[in-house]
Amino acid sequence: MKPWSSLALLSILVPSALCISNYSATCTIPAGNGSDDAPAIRQAFHDCGNGGHIVFQQNTTYNVDTVLQLHNLSNVQIDLLGTILFSTDVRYWIQHGSFYWFQNISIALEFSGDNITIDGHDTGIIDGQGQVWYDLALAIGGLYGRPIPFSLRNAKNSVAKNFHIKQSGKWNFVIIESQNITADNIVLTSLSDDYQANPGNLGNTDGFDTLYSDDIRIQNSYIDSGDDCVSLKPGSTNIQITNLTCVNTAGIAVGSLGQYEGQFDLVENVTATNVTLIGSRNGAYVKTYMGKRTYYPPQGGGNGTGAVRNVAFSNFNIQNITAAPVLLQQCSHWAGWDVPACADYPSTGFTFQNITWTNFTGWSNEEVGTEEVSLACSPKSTCVDLSFSGIDVKPYNGSAATYTCTNVDGLSSGCQAANVTTDS
Ligand SMILES: *[C@@H]1O[C@H](CO)[C@@H](O)[C@H](O)[C@H]1NC(C)=O
Ligand SMILES: *[C@@H]1O[C@H](CO)[C@@H](O)[C@H](O)[C@H]1NC(C)=O
Ligand SMILES: *[C@@H]1O[C@H](CO)[C@@H](O)[C@H](O)[C@H]1NC(C)=O
Ligand SMILES: *[C@@H]1O[C@H](CO)[C@@H](O)[C@H](O)[C@H]1NC(C)=O
Ligand SMILES: *[C@@H]1O[C@H](CO)[C@@H](O)[C@H](O)[C@H]1NC(C)=O
Ligand SMILES: *[C@@H]1O[C@H](CO)[C@@H](O)[C@H](O)[C@H]1NC(C)=O
Ligand SMILES: *[C@@H]1O[C@H](CO)[C@@H](O)[C@H](O)[C@H]1NC(C)=O
Ligand SMILES: *[C@@H]1O[C@H](CO)[C@@H](O)[C@H](O)[C@H]1NC(C)=O
Ligand SMILES: *[C@@H]1O[C@H](CO)[C@@H](O)[C@H](O)[C@H]1NC(C)=O
Ligand SMILES: *[C@@H]1O[C@H](CO)[C@@H](O)[C@H](O)[C@H]1NC(C)=O
Ligand SMILES: *[C@@H]1O[C@H](CO)[C@@H](O)[C@H](O)[C@H]1NC(C)=O
Ligand SMILES: *[C@@H]1O[C@H](CO)[C@@H](O)[C@H](O)[C@H]1NC(C)=O
Repeated sequence: MKPWSSLALLSILVPSALCISNYSATCTIPAGNGSDDAPAIRQAFHDCGNGGHIVFQQNTTYNVDTVLQLHNLSNVQIDLLGTILFSTDVRYWIQHGSFYWFQNISIALEFSGDNITIDGHDTGIIDGQGQVWYDLALAIGGLYGRPIPFSLRNAKNSVAKNFHIKQSGKWNFVIIESQNITADNIVLTSLSDDYQANPGNLGNTDGFDTLYSDDIRIQNSYIDSGDDCVSLKPGSTNIQITNLTCVNTAGIAVGSLGQYEGQFDLVENVTATNVTLIGSRNGAYVKTYMGKRTYYPPQGGGNGTGAVRNVAFSNFNIQNITAAPVLLQQCSHWAGWDVPACADYPSTGFTFQNITWTNFTGWSNEEVGTEEVSLACSPKSTCVDLSFSGIDVKPYNGSAATYTCTNVDGLSSGCQAANVTTDS
């Protein structure tokens, strides 16, 4: 663009930008009439998104058929008293969701700006109508465009609280490139109709995900979603997780790291405490890709590097877990076929330092889950100051729990050498 044309653009934009700043305005979004309410929602954010107050009315359903990118907000209070109902037009969402490069995710609703409060007052609902996506994802592995129904993206000093996200098509609540965010008293539920018949159905329905975000609190929330309860992905720093109940999830995860060749993935300064896991796959775990890229992200990948430092998991109440509650593995891969054995290409160039697991109590599933601790560190990575204490997750059948640790330096207690480098 030539310099004069950007100036011309500015002179058009500036006056209208001045008009929308009304520091006392309240915008009550009109009740939906069955057609797409996204235009009315956009109008409200345009009129009241800077210093104003926006109300989604109670007992009102807002149909959202088109993507919402609610950007450049500031000092705004949003009362989400009613329901936001996303359409099931898969063709539309696959083509029009907001793209983000990490794993090519697609977002249906995103908020960005400074000092945004979104308060559902315990009546607000965001309904992703995900069944159509669960069914489609069964037929099409790695299906692109499954919409994420809620995201704070490029937001700071903001709070989201007291609402319920249900039937998310993919990950539920995503925090991207944001700083100083609190998620408080959030309910996330994603339950597939045919979950019993197709237990793989609910893949990729994480509860909370953080990406390239700093100073984040996730607290006092209930998650029943089928995949990771919380997943701290690359660039997650200074994260505090407390008082979560996670039902039928994969647990609290750090990962996936190392998926993008040539990229350094950092996760640093994390505490997760007072977490109840019911019917979980794992407990608190760290996972990286292997040291050779096989296919490309979003499904394939590998051979990235990184560091996970200063992570403390404590006070986990665990009921009916199916795999190791304490787990570090370096062989994640979802490409599905032709993936080399992990032992052939262990991840390279990772540092795991000061990761602790303390006070994990409970019991494991009757069928499986006699392993309590599995720390498989790559011989080409550095694992130092990893420790666990007070891990007492009893095998349901009374058999002895096993501890397996590989290539971990200076481990405090209990671990036997496993003589393997493969993921267990
Ligand atoms: C701000 O909003 C109030 C209430 O809607 C209205 O009365 C007032 O005229 C608006 N002021 C400006 C400058 O738009
Ligand atoms: C919404 O519905 C509930 C239950 O019917 C009712 O108690 C409440 O008063 C309604 N709120 C509004 C604002 O109409
Ligand atoms: C944040 O926004 C609220 C209105 O939602 C306002 O009352 C408060 O003063 C703002 N905080 C700062 C630091 O500007
Ligand atoms: C973080 O955000 C909260 C809520 O908006 C605000 O009250 C607080 O001052 C912010 N903290 C910093 C360090 O800016
Ligand atoms: C934990 O979160 C739940 C909501 O999931 C809430 O009811 C409870 O009061 C919280 N406990 C504490 C100690 O804050
Ligand atoms: C991993 O990536 C590096 C570049 O970041 C490259 O030099 C190396 O050959 C790759 N290793 C494998 C096993 O592909
Ligand atoms: C992690 O915490 C340490 C100690 O408080 C601090 O020095 C470091 O800068 C923090 N890391 C990040 C990425 O904020
Ligand atoms: C965790 O729970 C314990 C016991 O209920 C409580 O004393 C502690 O303050 C909680 N920790 C956090 C960070 O909320
Ligand atoms: C280890 O990590 C924990 C949790 O983030 C932190 O509180 C502690 O200061 C770290 N220890 C060192 C020696 O950095
Ligand atoms: C251990 O964790 C449980 C919750 O799982 C909690 O009730 C208990 O207070 C914790 N014990 C200590 C010593 O913190
Ligand atoms: C444990 O979970 C399995 C499903 O994985 C379920 O069939 C079983 O009833 C649960 N056991 C108990 C005691 O809740
Ligand atoms: C590991 O290998 C050594 C030497 O072959 C053997 O003595 C030891 O029992 C093995 N450990 C396990 C846990 O299998």
